[in-house]
Amino acid sequence: MAVEYFEDTRTFRLRSKDTDWVMQVVDEGYLLQVYCGAAVPDSDLSWLLRLDEPPFVPSVNMRDKGTFMDSAPFVYPCAGTGDYREPAFEIVAPDGTTASDLRYSSHRIYSGKPALDGLPATFAAEESGCETLEIVLEDKFTGLEVTLVCTAFEKLSAFTRSVRVKNCGIQPVFLKNVSSMCAEFDSSDMDMITLWGSWARERIPERCRLHHGVQYISSGRGTSSHQYNPFAALCVRNADEDSGEVWGFSLVYSGNFKALAEVTQHDCTRFIIGMGSDGFLWKLEPGETFTAPEAAAVHSLEGLGGMSRTFHDLWRQNLIRSPYKFRERPVLINNWEATYFNFDADKLANIASEASELGIEMLVMDDGWFGHRESDNSSLGDWFVNEKKLPGGLGALVERVKGYGMRFGIWFEPEMISPDSDLFRSHPDWAIQIKGREMTMSREQYVLDLSRSEVRECVYSQIKRILDSADIAYVKWDCNRQITEAGSLALPADRQQEVMHRYILGVYDLMERLVTDYPDLLLENCSGGGGRFDPGMLYYSPQIWCSDDTDALERLKIQYGTSLCYPCSAMGAHVSVCPNHTVGRTTPFSTRANVSLAGTFGYELDVTKLSEEDKSAIPGQIALYKKYGRLVRSGDLFRISSIFDDPEYHALMFVAKDKSEALVEYFQVLGRPNRRSRRIKLKGLDPDAVYFEEKAPEKTISGAALMNCGINICGLWGDCQSVIFHYIKK
Ligand code: DGJ
Repeated sequence: MAVEYFEDTRTFRLRSKDTDWVMQVVDEGYLLQVYCGAAVPDSDLSWLLRLDEPPFVPSVNMRDKGTFMDSAPFVYPCAGTGDYREPAFEIVAPDGTTASDLRYSSHRIYSGKPALDGLPATFAAEESGCETLEIVLEDKFTGLEVTLVCTAFEKLSAFTRSVRVKNCGIQPVFLKNVSSMCAEFDSSDMDMITLWGSWARERIPERCRLHHGVQYISSGRGTSSHQYNPFAALCVRNADEDSGEVWGFSLVYSGNFKALAEVTQHDCTRFIIGMGSDGFLWKLEPGETFTAPEAAAVHSLEGLGGMSRTFHDLWRQNLIRSPYKFRERPVLINNWEATYFNFDADKLANIASEASELGIEMLVMDDGWFGHRESDNSSLGDWFVNEKKLPGGLGALVERVKGYGMRFGIWFEPEMISPDSDLFRSHPDWAIQIKGREMTMSREQYVLDLSRSEVRECVYSQIKRILDSADIAYVKWDCNRQITEAGSLALPADRQQEVMHRYILGVYDLMERLVTDYPDLLLENCSGGGGRFDPGMLYYSPQIWCSDDTDALERLKIQYGTSLCYPCSAMGAHVSVCPNHTVGRTTPFSTRANVSLAGTFGYELDVTKLSEEDKSAIPGQIALYKKYGRLVRSGDLFRISSIFDDPEYHALMFVAKDKSEALVEYFQVLGRPNRRSRRIKLKGLDPDAVYFEEKAPEKTISGAALMNCGINICGLWGDCQSVIFHYIKK
């Protein structure tokens, strides 16, 4: 049983694999968090609440109710009634006041978990059964009913939480903050790990010691953003890759968010993750319900590695819906770095013809095929083929590409509108804007007001016309700017602060239509590189373009940071040319391929201009992808060492779930003078089994020796060198 209720103490215990999350209804109906951590047999842990210590529960000592409110570990803390810490829930009541007071009203427990209206969310899957507890809290003053939807997964140490707010009152209430999850820790001796970044430098881990006060990351950009990812981990100070207690939190949402930790006066830590309150105010009419996105929490006693593997399993088993999630993805070649906007049908057909001979399976035509787009300054919104570039239309090009035995993919940027477009000329009001204010231009484009159904209809019908006009197997969905002047000309003044969320609901609506109408389409999300790499997007697309930075060494960093929360199978990773277009670095072709092997694998170059030596290496690289792709997609990732720990080398491995084989990737980042071999210890193998490395089948070695003694890496000479090993159980 994943969820239990103990009537005598009014205690709820959610058990996920070997982790407990315990809550209790105490006097006066407050719902408190008793414990979260390694599973324990006891059903009554109420001493942890210290209700027998001053200030006691309010019913015992009303004189100290304020102190109680400001120190109790609330499951869903609200503002204005004595808890001065960061709230998860904030409102503006019909009388203009901002206090709320949530008390237990009822609960129910059921097997499985519900889908969320219009929002991505994890679902029940056979591999990891789950049960759900819904607890209804009430704010009597306004008539708001807040339902916490709490799910525990039986075979993964993972929990999810989402929140529904129903206005059962008789007047509208404004919701200012409906965060998705709050966790309370009776300690402040922890580090917080977050992922920060920038364009071409996404998801760099940063680990900081918690300090008194509030520390947070957030996005107010309308996308989850390059700058901060909707992920945070809290871990004990000595937690490392393989040991120590870690809690990881992630928001299944692609828009604005906030993840915060507050260390309190009593050295406790409150953690909250959700959409945040900046620029958000949602008018809830009587009878209406608002649903906040889902957050996931993952617990590990095996350090950061254990946390990542649970996230990977959770997203792969319970979030990604695409039929491609475990299926081999076609090896694609994308023309962006090959041609940028400067292409026509002949150029693309030449690339396809040469690529197909090397074993590449799909040509993806990137930005620049529509309207009169010759650079990034026009035509977004005019999704009709530029016949000057593609004479005879899309069908003719697709047939040529198919003639080489390849499939075809295409790029769209459905959320945007160029000022120089027929769409903008006929519907200037369809851009997100504030009436009377200058619209900030970014990449010479504006953002479409996808909160409006007529706008979504227009964009979708154009996309559909293109997809129905030719045999298209793949779509790259790009999004190259963030929102400014958040406003909609279709909404009244008191709903303008709903725009950011309504926009994301509009994006999800479009994506849902796309994956429903084209169930076999391989959808890859992208946002100016990796600016929207979040779990919300994984619900629609099994892969997301990781970064516009395709340099091998930069990618080691980016893919390492990304792997803290996301599976490698979701990381769009391509081999490109050198000097690298972003950083100007030159690395060996084989190293670039080995880096991409730990992702979705593909090429982003003009194969007609490659040297014969590089070209001749491609069939072998594809063979490696075919051989190891399954391990990468469905195995367990073990990070051995990262370029952040030691700038000289980087190593990782993928182990089959049944431990029957493992792929080890070693990167010598910097050559070393007076070198001797470097020893690395493998991880995740069966200690009692005997393995051999494929190149030397006669030499067997126990899993215990591979993990405890390690292997020597030798023979690499120079910077950016790499080698891979394949260990097979005998
Ligand atoms: C940003 C993407 O990350 C690139 O791969 C490319 O598709 C460009 N946009 C096209 O404008």
